[in-house]
Amino acid sequence: MRLWTSIAIGFAVALGMGAAQAPPSDPPQPNPALPLPNAPWQPHVRLVYESDTRAYYRPCGCNANSAGGLARRAALLKDLRAQSAPVVVCTAGDFYGTADIFNEAKSRFVARMMDQLGYDAIGVGEMDLNFGLATLVADVRSLGLPVVCANLRAKTDSLRIRGEGPAAAAADRLGSAFPPYRVVSTAGSRFGFVGLISPATKVKPAAQKDEPVEAITYSLDDPVAVAKSVIPELRAACDVLVVLAHMGEEEAVALVAAVPGIDLVVLGHDPAGRPLGQPRTAGGARILRATSQGQNIGELNVKLGDDHRLADAFNRIHIMDASHRDDPEMAKRVEGFDEENRKLQKELFARQQLQGDEQDPFGGRYLGVGACQSCHVEEFDVYAHTRHARAYATLASQFVHRDTNCVGCHVTGYGEAGGFQGVRVRGADVDLIDVQCEACHGPGADHARDGSYRDTAIASCVKCHTPNDDPDFDFATDWPKIAH
Ligand code: HEC
Ligand code: HEC
Ligand code: HEC
Ligand code: HEC
Repeated sequence: MRLWTSIAIGFAVALGMGAAQAPPSDPPQPNPALPLPNAPWQPHVRLVYESDTRAYYRPCGCNANSAGGLARRAALLKDLRAQSAPVVVCTAGDFYGTADIFNEAKSRFVARMMDQLGYDAIGVGEMDLNFGLATLVADVRSLGLPVVCANLRAKTDSLRIRGEGPAAAAADRLGSAFPPYRVVSTAGSRFGFVGLISPATKVKPAAQKDEPVEAITYSLDDPVAVAKSVIPELRAACDVLVVLAHMGEEEAVALVAAVPGIDLVVLGHDPAGRPLGQPRTAGGARILRATSQGQNIGELNVKLGDDHRLADAFNRIHIMDASHRDDPEMAKRVEGFDEENRKLQKELFARQQLQGDEQDPFGGRYLGVGACQSCHVEEFDVYAHTRHARAYATLASQFVHRDTNCVGCHVTGYGEAGGFQGVRVRGADVDLIDVQCEACHGPGADHARDGSYRDTAIASCVKCHTPNDDPDFDFATDWPKIAH
């Protein structure tokens, strides 16, 4: 099956793009490691693109010759970088996986490896928001990933990464969570990348699969309207303009028709994983797609004109099956992560068994303050300044943090399934020290929207503020001191 697909795409590319070219100026160099047909001319730049990796850091494993995996991707990039033309690497998003704790560790591993692989521009997909905008922002900030997205608007400044130069000014104007665009200079040409995500991609949050979280930490503005506002200024600052478009193919066609100045569109959001062997042309732009689960990697050979702009292009789709070798260094990193991950999975599985709650994808019923923070930014900001957020440190400063007479009221869920277990386990996926949100509201997996989650909290105070420990406690006067 794979082989036939490979040949079919190879022919489509050769006939479609190659036939109309001018006679080659330089004879192309054959490369035995890369069996697809070469462009009939020497490319000036190779634009490598993909999308929808969805935390598949290994081949999907669905059949003997299953495609994908970061080790093969690393080897392909090395092979391409060893050739004459410079390589620019981008993705149209969805590098994170499904919204459950099993996928969270994988997703964040993929983000770390994208940093190692030297991506030049990264768009955002709805899967990348699966663990909350705060998680994505934390990864992008700590790794310095070159994420661009013009129409993802953050509702709080603490969740914004402005970038530098004119892109930062545009980010301020749009209120975007990430710089709307960035420019990468190579081979004497400036490649401008702008990111857009369609609201139609149905953003699904971690905890509540059916309800959008836009209302809380971010919102998505109309991609066409935002494109009209940023593309003219980016066009003036670059030679080749690329949109990293996390949207359906027809939406992209409408976008290029409505907004002039786009040279290339790299599409994401393709659950069916159908690459476009031959770019689709619309409104003067070429629309590219290489998806998903890391099974296909696109390589657009770019020919530049004397004006440094896009003069011609020749597309190749690499099907990342077992005919590709592994890069040994990346393979080692993947092995290392697997080991780490196996331990984590075992722990999570054990916890599920303990609670007889195998249906619950969150494993523990307590999710930890980090999970709440990802959606409830404002409540968190208030909470973080209260003594509840330092209650464990109070004990630790007196060396009584392991004293079972003391920990109960200074931690979260003590004595309950999935709650604090008596001693702090460093490196555990959920750290339940301090009087966190769930100490008052109850386990996060119960998160109801009928008012009961709020009522539980109102009733909780006196579990700890007992007449013995806090004789003066009075809800009416004490709640306002910490109210959120
Ligand atoms: C799990 C136990 C626990 C619960 C439940 C709890 N508290 Fe507390 N609270 C504490 C502890 C422990 C401290 C002291 C923390 C420290 O200083 O280390 C504290 C401190 C406070 C303070 C002083 C905070 C400050 O920043 O000055 C107020 C006010 C307070 N609690 C109100 C409440 C109210 C109102 C509720 C219910 C809505 C509540 N607490 C529920 C354990 C709890
Ligand atoms: C039944 C719940 C409960 C237990 C058990 C408990 N505490 Fe507390 N602790 C509280 C509450 C509630 C407060 C906050 C009282 C207030 O704000 O007036 C508090 C506050 C404190 C403070 C801060 C006092 C201050 O005003 O700065 C210290 C220190 C402390 N506890 C130590 C301990 C130690 C040590 C133990 C074990 C011997 C212990 N706690 C056990 C509920 C508890
Ligand atoms: C000390 C106990 C306590 C802690 C800790 C706590 N809450 Fe609350 N929370 C409450 C109480 C009590 C209410 C209801 C207050 C009311 O409506 O009178 C509430 C209300 C809320 C509401 C509803 C607000 C509204 O007006 O609809 C949200 C959302 C919320 N909390 C989230 C959080 C998050 C997120 C955290 C952790 C970052 C947190 N809470 C920590 C006690 C707590
Ligand atoms: C995936 C996003 C998400 C996460 C994670 C999340 N919440 Fe919520 N929460 C919501 C939404 C949406 C609402 C509805 C309120 C609104 O529209 O503002 C809500 C409402 C609430 C309310 C008010 C409920 C009511 O019936 O009045 C409380 C309390 C609350 N959340 C606490 C928490 C706590 C505690 C955590 C962490 C264990 C948490 N939430 C995690 C999205 C989330």
